[in-house]
Amino acid sequence: MHVLCPVTSPPLLETRGLTKIYGGKTVLAGVDLVVERGETVVVLGGSGSGKSTLARLLVGLERPTGGHILVAGRDLVGLPEDELARERQRFAMVFQKYALLDSLTVYENVAFPLRERRMSEREIRERVMRQLDALGVADAAKKLPAELSGGMAKRVGIARAMVMDPEILVYDEPTSGLDPVTSRVVDELIDEVRERFCVTSLVITHDMATAWGIADRVVLLDGGRIAIDGPPDVVLASDDPRIRPFADSSGVDPKRLGHRKQRSSPAEVRARWEQRRPAPELRERRSLADVLFSRA
Ligand SMILES: Nc1ncnc2c1ncn2[C@@H]1O[C@H](COP(=O)(O)OP(=O)(O)O)[C@@H](O)[C@H]1O
Ligand SMILES: [Mg+2]
Repeated sequence: MHVLCPVTSPPLLETRGLTKIYGGKTVLAGVDLVVERGETVVVLGGSGSGKSTLARLLVGLERPTGGHILVAGRDLVGLPEDELARERQRFAMVFQKYALLDSLTVYENVAFPLRERRMSEREIRERVMRQLDALGVADAAKKLPAELSGGMAKRVGIARAMVMDPEILVYDEPTSGLDPVTSRVVDELIDEVRERFCVTSLVITHDMATAWGIADRVVLLDGGRIAIDGPPDVVLASDDPRIRPFADSSGVDPKRLGHRKQRSSPAEVRARWEQRRPAPELRERRSLADVLFSRA
């Protein structure tokens, strides 16, 4: 077994026997996945393997048919609505096609998740602008999504996901439909967000190069289960016939992957997260700006 970072007990996120059945069709047949705080886990899987379904279950857009989702050891399945809603704020999703609302400005798109909460206009403004600033798109605040480049739209999508100050960011196919050069820019952005916000990331993709570039751990979703789980160098170099097809779809031969960029380890990200974040009971009171720009 490969231990990539000292294991925290309990892990930040764990699924046990997670299942999803749609009208008699079993899409997830018992997903067992552990994600430690600070890790970037890349979930590989073919088209229709249930990757988006897994993402939707994790962020709470859908309910599982069976199994458990544990966050810091607490089972979300069976929690009362209000407590579930609070736990769900620990997750955010960056959608495949950014999912920005066309008729709203960048500012209003990012403010959107805050509008449902009782928050003063001043606090909303502060949070949104700091978030846009952190992602380098503050100048685009008044623009409409149609006026943005793909790269900027991606940054705005991430700003919106981050505005509620989540601990776990789930990206659904962040590079799908992008050319290889732009895809690598998006990989860098995911790494930048991790460095900056110390988030734990789950990146769902079929892009081998993404897996190689940013994963601390790679898992393969196949047959409704986690079929392979390990460090990227081991998983991507394996002769397992379930891994090979990803080389073709991404144009990257897993056996000829080059040099990996030096990145922070999950343990380093976790240590920084713990330094910078207040205890959960205080988080409600502090704005993202306080957390981001405070000196530990
Ligand atoms: N809401 C739904 N109702 C019925 N079937 C669904 C629904 N969502 C997804 N599916 C089916 O579940 C399977 C997995 O879908 P999905 O999770 O989107 O796969 P992936 O993201 O890996 O391509 C597909 O066969 C899809 O048709
Ligand atoms: Mg999908």
